[in-house]
Amino acid sequence: MALELNTCRLPVNLASWIAENAADFKPPVGNKYLYDGEDFFVMVIGGPNARNDFHMTNSEEYFFQLKGDMVVIIRDDDGLKHVPIREGETFFIPSGVPHAPQRPPGTVGVVVERRRPPGETEHQQFYCPNCHELVHDQEFDCEDIVDHFASAMEAFWADEALSTCGSCGTRVGKPAPIKRIEFEPEVRIIREGEE
Ligand SMILES: [Fe+2]
Repeated sequence: MALELNTCRLPVNLASWIAENAADFKPPVGNKYLYDGEDFFVMVIGGPNARNDFHMTNSEEYFFQLKGDMVVIIRDDDGLKHVPIREGETFFIPSGVPHAPQRPPGTVGVVVERRRPPGETEHQQFYCPNCHELVHDQEFDCEDIVDHFASAMEAFWADEALSTCGSCGTRVGKPAPIKRIEFEPEVRIIREGEE
């Protein structure tokens, strides 16, 4: 007899789910809801991504790297830190910490986040690749972290005035997807079209 559950959803085989949904893991973000709940949501995120934003929220984020190695760039008072997250490792980001996940092709990770209360905004921050000044801090009420989050990025990259550095005039363009990441002797992120 088939299992019937009134209030619970049936269990999901994660590997099968990932294989069935692989076509939806596409740049710039590559995320898809595995579970979209009232209190929290769980995303599976497949590389390659193509992001040059720093995400900052008032909530915590939990990472679990299922397949392949990735890097999260953390921006703190001392500057930028490249944190490799290897296959099988977990990682926790406290609230208020700007972070930029970098995912090579073929990698798969899980991220768990809290459902934002109504009216709570979050940030996409873009920094100048030349002089490192803040170019734009996009603060918005993210209606949907799968569709709305990527479209907010696309809108920024397409807006010449918004995406041009006020200090040195360099444009923060739409980045190409990541081709590979070298981890040794130091982290180096190589995008499509680069060597
Ligand atoms: Fe600049």
